[in-house]
Amino acid sequence: MLLGVNIDHIATLRNARGGVEPDVIKAAAIAEENGASSITTHLREDRRHIKDEDVYSLIKTLKTRLNLEMAMDDDIRYIALDIKPYSICLVPERRQEVTTEGGLDVSGCIEKVAEFIKPLLDAGIIVSLFIDADEEQVKAAAQTGAQFIELHTGAYSECFGYKEEEQEFQKLKNSAGLARSLGLKVNAGHGLNYENVHRMHEIEGLQELNIGHSIISRAVFTGLGEAVSRMKGLIE
Ligand code: PXP
Repeated sequence: MLLGVNIDHIATLRNARGGVEPDVIKAAAIAEENGASSITTHLREDRRHIKDEDVYSLIKTLKTRLNLEMAMDDDIRYIALDIKPYSICLVPERRQEVTTEGGLDVSGCIEKVAEFIKPLLDAGIIVSLFIDADEEQVKAAAQTGAQFIELHTGAYSECFGYKEEEQEFQKLKNSAGLARSLGLKVNAGHGLNYENVHRMHEIEGLQELNIGHSIISRAVFTGLGEAVSRMKGLIE
């Protein structure tokens, strides 16, 4: 199973000061050097973290693959067609949300999704649809022309360790099995962390996990000691 690292939170921190640090390009390179098989960024309509210039730089500097998360927005699609990432992942997007809150409602708009992704597919970009672990959504995704789905693991992650965990986990497992039987390839992500990720191995055929928040959060603490002692050394 492969690991895709989401670097959006590096950009969130950078934008808090409006400067250039921490550098998202450097963060992506470190992730790649340490085993990431792809780098994911979500170019949101409000550009709250990753910005256009970031994706234009990443496409030139990445040694692995760029997976661009995007909403069904014509302007963002224009950028995707211009930079041609290895893959895009279509997600729902609401301006008020803190992060992507639910999967894309593909069953409610199969034709609209199919039409939106066609130019991307024609350009040779792999298309993935971020959906909830729901039979109806999986069947709908299989009718759009997308090659991949990314199963939303948020509900499983939130229930991890509670009695609902098994039920949410089985939904993921069943959805992955159904998707594969319909010819779709399956990724997963959202809310996965160092405690709950191990169960993803129980889901047959998962190709890649896209993980951001827990990795960046851990990096703060694994790096904080060194950062403080280095500054102290400079001051002394
Ligand atoms: N996959 C998708 C489609 C997402 O929107 C996100 C969050 O940006 C992730 C994976 C990663 O989620 P997390 O940051 O909780 O690991």
